[in-house]
Amino acid sequence: MPILINKTKRVLIQGITGREGVARTKLMSNYGTQVVAGVTPGKGGQTVLGIPVFDTVQEACETVGKIDISVLFVPAPLVLGAALEAFAADIKLLVIVPDRVPLYDVLEIAAVAKKHGAQFVGPNTLGILSPDAGVLGMMGGRAESASEWLFPGPVGITSRSGGITTSIAYYIAQSGIGLSTLAHVGGDSVVGMTHADMLRLFQKDEQTKLVVLFGEIGTSQEEEAAHCVASGEFTKPLIAYIGGKAAKEGTRFSHAGAIIEGNKGTHEGKVRRLREVGAVVAESFSDIPQLVAETLQSLKSESAAPTSKSVKNASWYTAITEIQPNLIRLRGHRIENLIGDISFSQAIYLALTGKLPDKSIGTILDAILVSSIDHGATPPSTLAARTAASTGAAINAALSAGLLSINKHHGGAIEACMRLIQTALDNQQAEKCSVEDAAMSLVREYRQSKRRLAGFGHRIHSADPRSERLLKLASQEKLAADGITMLQALRDALSEQTEHDFPINVDGAIAAILLDIGIEAPLGNTFFMMARLPGLIAHIREEQTRERPMRVIHPRNHGYDGERHE
Ligand SMILES: CC(C)(COP(=O)(O)OP(=O)(O)OC[C@H]1O[C@@H](n2cnc3c(N)ncnc32)[C@H](O)[C@@H]1OP(=O)(O)O)[C@@H](O)C(=O)NCCC(=O)NCCS
Repeated sequence: MPILINKTKRVLIQGITGREGVARTKLMSNYGTQVVAGVTPGKGGQTVLGIPVFDTVQEACETVGKIDISVLFVPAPLVLGAALEAFAADIKLLVIVPDRVPLYDVLEIAAVAKKHGAQFVGPNTLGILSPDAGVLGMMGGRAESASEWLFPGPVGITSRSGGITTSIAYYIAQSGIGLSTLAHVGGDSVVGMTHADMLRLFQKDEQTKLVVLFGEIGTSQEEEAAHCVASGEFTKPLIAYIGGKAAKEGTRFSHAGAIIEGNKGTHEGKVRRLREVGAVVAESFSDIPQLVAETLQSLKSESAAPTSKSVKNASWYTAITEIQPNLIRLRGHRIENLIGDISFSQAIYLALTGKLPDKSIGTILDAILVSSIDHGATPPSTLAARTAASTGAAINAALSAGLLSINKHHGGAIEACMRLIQTALDNQQAEKCSVEDAAMSLVREYRQSKRRLAGFGHRIHSADPRSERLLKLASQEKLAADGITMLQALRDALSEQTEHDFPINVDGAIAAILLDIGIEAPLGNTFFMMARLPGLIAHIREEQTRERPMRVIHPRNHGYDGERHE
């Protein structure tokens, strides 16, 4: 997945009817960018290349729906107004193409962007391009040539020069290596997203394996990028080239931001700082493709050879967490990069599978954990935990008693249902039959051998409020796949064969979702255990603080006297 732009992003063009607006809309649309609307005050109602034009950004959003990105082609003095209009309409990323935008206007745009939690690239930018995924701005010239020259691959580019961004990309592509995203941060002294911001995004992008940075004299962008490496925020290989070696103090070097003031922003200082943190700084621009190829080759051999072992010839190894002085890596990811950036549920998935999941998996796992957090005082694990707590056991001991009571007949249905669904899916594939037929014959087999089908029916709920919500969420998050389809077919087959309505229970819903997101069956019940821990702790604490020790705990005869919010 590239950074900033992909085919799902919905894009607006401000200034769409102008000369550049029309020409670049053609580039973006033809390259596959999802341009959904344009804005030019006074020209609402027109269309440009079939794209509807509106008088205001607000009106565009109200008519076409949520917009993710706006690309600005309005003359420099009008950029401030246009940018504020886009932020007010809740657009979170702007690409500001015009040059000569007044400095104080850019500072105001930055302040307002911060207030809205938004970002902007530019001004004075050629834009962003991700091969086969989309382009924002002017990068690539014509869609046909951009498609012909560039193809997806592992190299990201962040650059302070528009022309050089495409030149580097062209030469790298000519050497047979693909690109993830080309980002031109803009040539001015004050810009929105900087090299450092791009590096942070490239760090999270799995497609990007190394980044080429084209820097220039002036500003502190390259020093900040070096700091990003030093602090561990960017850990992938960085190949840099700094333009302006021959420039003297006070001379502007092509771009507005490329100027040495006093002894700051010098070529020498930037090269030294980048080398200090381990970046490879090319002496000559033409060396870049070769350096990229060599670095990619060494990455390949590193991952092939067991050189990632932290200690050679240790008596045993773990691939879960690496601990060294001042370094903690969970499944290869630095913990400080995960903290505050991924949810606990995403971290659970990472720890268990080794794969860093996207937000949708975090959302569905959160929902699963919430759904099973507690189920009253009667489940055996809760009674066991409360009973232990009533003897004066410490929380960890009472919690262990609860966990030890989670077994085949309580909390064990998720794994059993995952195996059931998997068997049905395997049968379907082996017999090349329909989902319905596979479900029918497996249910028949279970009934004939008088085995219970896990995941259906509930001793209390005839319609489990949790399962319906979970299954709906899985399809909203676009995670529903073969597991859920087979679960529903099994439910239909069971209802038909028993002439009895069998609802899918929470274990069934969780089982199908876990299968669909790539969790293996032996881990199924652990999601019940993880979910139930806070519920058990709450019961233990209530027992400790509200009840007398060694009371006789009646398993059924109890009531609820807490709050009700709806
Ligand atoms: C921004 C820029 C591209 C516009 O150039 P242009 O397309 O030739 O200018 P135009 O006057 O034809 O078009 C601007 C349009 O914006 C519209 N506009 C003005 N204010 C606007 C606003 N607030 N919202 C939306 N549109 C607006 C204008 O009405 C005009 O459209 P119209 O001609 O249909 O009336 C040009 O000023 C510029 O900065 N070029 C340099 C870009 C560059 O080199 N960037 C760096 C690359 S490395």
